[in-house]
Amino acid sequence: MAKPKSTAVPHHVAIVMDGNGRWATKRFLPRVAGHKQGVDSLSRCVQACMDRGIGVLTVFAFSSENWNRPSDEVSGLMELLAFSLSREMPRLKANGVRIYFVGDRTRLSEKVQEGLAQAELATSDNTRLVFNVCFNYGGRWDIAQAAQKLMKAGQEITEMSLDRAMALAHVPDPDLLIRTGGELRISNFLLWQAAYSELHFSDRLWPDFDEAALDEAIAIFQSRERRFGQTSAQLEGRKSAVSPTSKEKVT
Ligand code: IPE
Ligand code: IPE
Ligand code: MG
Repeated sequence: MAKPKSTAVPHHVAIVMDGNGRWATKRFLPRVAGHKQGVDSLSRCVQACMDRGIGVLTVFAFSSENWNRPSDEVSGLMELLAFSLSREMPRLKANGVRIYFVGDRTRLSEKVQEGLAQAELATSDNTRLVFNVCFNYGGRWDIAQAAQKLMKAGQEITEMSLDRAMALAHVPDPDLLIRTGGELRISNFLLWQAAYSELHFSDRLWPDFDEAALDEAIAIFQSRERRFGQTSAQLEGRKSAVSPTSKEKVT
């Protein structure tokens, strides 16, 4: 591995949690058993992020395109969302995690929508980790909804106004974007926000993505040089690069 360019942990880590289905199929289990295991992996990952001083964790839990899966898998995922939320809430709340659900909620049942709103409210005073769960989320949906919001308000569409209208406007852009499961694609995740994220693809299936795998991703991140369009020589003359996309956001 290349020597570290920085020892700072990424402030914002985003993860495409892929590979649950294959994890289950390899064990002759139904795919939804893989998703259940994926929730346990996520629960460990939240703790690991807090232990390492990461400020924001954003995960892709259900994409706009995942509705195209067999209906029993879709309903299994909806049930798992509601079940996991009620199971994990007390711990998240006690540990200082502030949860946000990011995505189009209108297609979710009223009961689920209520549960999401309650969880957000119950953790709204927490400050240790911002935890964004992208559910029924798509990068294209996000850009379109932001443009619609501005249009309705009669505002001009600029990079800055669009950025402020995006679903993740409450956090800075991800520094590190991880995809597990071995696929080398974004699958309509943070299309706008990942403009300058460092990308890391892991062959591990999401249920097997443990603390050591996270540490490896962080170490690789630290070995990268983030130039944001500048040259290495320019960066050497300064202490740290300034991201052209860095904005004054809440965290
Ligand atoms: C990711 O795991 C979880 C969701 C998309 C909900 P997959 O279910 O896509 O797992 P694989 O890719 O089929 O193994
Ligand atoms: C991306 O995984 C979505 C989530 C992890 C929620 P998919 O498994 O749906 O992605 P594709 O279909 O392989 O691109
Ligand atoms: Mg997949």
